[in-house]
Amino acid sequence: MRNLVSVDDMPREWWDGLYSRCCDIIAHPGDYADSCRGKIQASLFYEPSTRTNFSFQAAILRLGGSVFGFSDPKGTSISKGETLADTVRITATYSDAIVIRTAKEGAATAAALYSEVPVINAGDGAHLHPTQALADLTTIAQKRGEIADFCIGICGDLRYGRAVHSLIAALVKFKDVRFCLISPGELKVPRYVRELIYINGLKLYETDSLAESIGDLDILYMTRIQRERFQNPAEYERMKGVYILTKKLLEGARKDMLVMHPLPRYGEITPDVDSDPRAVYFQQAHYGMYIRMALLYEFLRLPKQMPPPVADAAAEITCGNPICITQTELYLPPLISVKDQKRCGYCDKEAGILI
Ligand code: CP
Repeated sequence: MRNLVSVDDMPREWWDGLYSRCCDIIAHPGDYADSCRGKIQASLFYEPSTRTNFSFQAAILRLGGSVFGFSDPKGTSISKGETLADTVRITATYSDAIVIRTAKEGAATAAALYSEVPVINAGDGAHLHPTQALADLTTIAQKRGEIADFCIGICGDLRYGRAVHSLIAALVKFKDVRFCLISPGELKVPRYVRELIYINGLKLYETDSLAESIGDLDILYMTRIQRERFQNPAEYERMKGVYILTKKLLEGARKDMLVMHPLPRYGEITPDVDSDPRAVYFQQAHYGMYIRMALLYEFLRLPKQMPPPVADAAAEITCGNPICITQTELYLPPLISVKDQKRCGYCDKEAGILI
């Protein structure tokens, strides 16, 4: 693998090698302190972040490398109208890997078309968040010993929660994972995500009740209602606070159930849950740094490689998703999903390709 834009691209054996590296880094951090000396990570954060941005920065520094970048594009020539393609071309010449977060869906896929260094998707709109999924897999493996044979309840905003989409795409690669998707009808997972569960022959149960399902779960993965993704503020107001995990509610859960959350939280887990030994969300964020160290360690060894020439955009082809990267970067070539001809190859939305 040269880029990480989606965990769909991640072969199972690649994960096994990455996790093995991660465990070695946790056990022997000193052995890696100079392993990326002279390597430089570019951090292009068009959207706010605490965990992903800082853990990637901590990761490269702990490997002996350096980092430059921005956490707000206003201070760069993007504010003068520079395109994503040119921003990526330039930063690739200064660095050895690009970590990119944007509000535009499919931006990391687009960036990879123009980059001579590996591109890592640090979250693109309500689409995907593959390195969060790596952090989640690491947490499950560390806490349960293996990633197999459990029932995971994923609760909250499954429609706009990009961490959820990547977590499901990652978990379908493992054996006997059973999904309990807990959300209001308006916030169910997109079809392209639900199909991954069916295609892989895994069990799926959908409900809107956390209280009724919590007793059946081995893992409860709570998520925030993603206020920033709602087109209609009134709809957010109706949805916020729909699920709140309290110490009282946890009384109905198994004694060894893990409580996970990608964070940040906004009221959906009350602070009195933090001291419960089942709450592992702060450890989850910590493991995120180690698996990102492993990822950078692997990617920063790859030689620079110019991408193949990019075709010109065909003006009559466009995606119907208003926050797809193709809506603003008009020069992008049309891409059709290799998995489904009716989907956009950047954002996966079926709303689709209008020809
Ligand atoms: N989990 C996560 O992506 O957190 P940040 O938005 O703070 O990076």
